[in-house]
Amino acid sequence: MPRGGTFVRGGGPIGSAAVSHRIVTLPGDGIGPEILAPTLQVLDAVGDFAYEEHLFGGASIDAGGTALTDEVLDACKRSDAVLLAAVGGPKWDTTDPDVPRPEQGLLGLRKGLGLYANLRPVRPLPALYDASPLRRDIIERTDLLVVRELTGGIYFGDKTRTADTASDLCSYSREEVERIARVAFRSARSRVTSVDKANVLETSRLWREVVSDLHGREFPNIELQHVLVDNAAMMLVSSPRHFDVILTENMFGDILSDEAAMLTGSIGMLPSASLGESGTPGVFEPVHGSAPDIAGQGIANPLAMFLSAAMMLRHGLGLPDAAASVESAVDKALDQGLRTPDLGGNASTAEATQAVLAHL
Ligand code: IPM
Ligand code: MG
Repeated sequence: MPRGGTFVRGGGPIGSAAVSHRIVTLPGDGIGPEILAPTLQVLDAVGDFAYEEHLFGGASIDAGGTALTDEVLDACKRSDAVLLAAVGGPKWDTTDPDVPRPEQGLLGLRKGLGLYANLRPVRPLPALYDASPLRRDIIERTDLLVVRELTGGIYFGDKTRTADTASDLCSYSREEVERIARVAFRSARSRVTSVDKANVLETSRLWREVVSDLHGREFPNIELQHVLVDNAAMMLVSSPRHFDVILTENMFGDILSDEAAMLTGSIGMLPSASLGESGTPGVFEPVHGSAPDIAGQGIANPLAMFLSAAMMLRHGLGLPDAAASVESAVDKALDQGLRTPDLGGNASTAEATQAVLAHL
């Protein structure tokens, strides 16, 4: 396995020949390596890419004591895009603040690359309407995008801890709110629903003010609605079709996107893109975690990973046609009955991969 330093294409190292698309791959932990490997097969079916694989998360902690090394962060900065599978697992679970955690790798990568915009599209496919725990008439025709702020808020505020007390600071600046709100308005077709907790939190009151100002100045033709996060959580399962773009801060976005995933039947279906200023490589990863309970069995659903690769093609590498080919191949495979265990079937990861490759 290539372990970094050299981008490798189709099994052979790239010499000095110019390679247009250099992708750093971070398989991470649990099912990560099992879903990342077939994703490269899918990518190779639609284009010419060079890959450089690195340890990340728990695997990197095991090798050297830290979830994200400076070398790996530098390699990501030098790449055109980063394809990440999943991190974490019971092996590294701890409440000791001084012991490294795999998730620190993820947070360090997002912060290190300045990836403030996290896009999580939720579009249940007709073939999967009956795989959702929600009724078909509630989910059908849902097509929404969660735009989550990714480098601020309570995730990155100062933390304190003594034996008996702990605190996490939640802070946002006008600039941080405005740049993510701009992404949301630009992505909207008709409406932005900005989700906050302005009846309680000062950060939410600033958020609301900044979003409203920007709306009035730059996007008067898009409808803007403010919804409190508890109410938004309810609306997501009672009337998901109401939403076009959901704009929200880091932690609310984390929670609401898992909730929204269930509209698609399985969290194994949801891709994401994390983007920064133009010119910065983005990180593309499934919303789901490392699923340690099924790791190593060859039954993980690779579709969210394939769809994340499609988002990489579209948003990270400027290859919208290749992205559409991958998405349509996934749709067709599902139409023809492909179901991994999380979707109520018994297809293996390898069978799912073949079913998708058959349409490329
Ligand atoms: C996600 C994940 C991460 C997050 C964890 C693993 C740190 O849940 O990408 O949604 O909370 O952002
Ligand atoms: Mg999450």
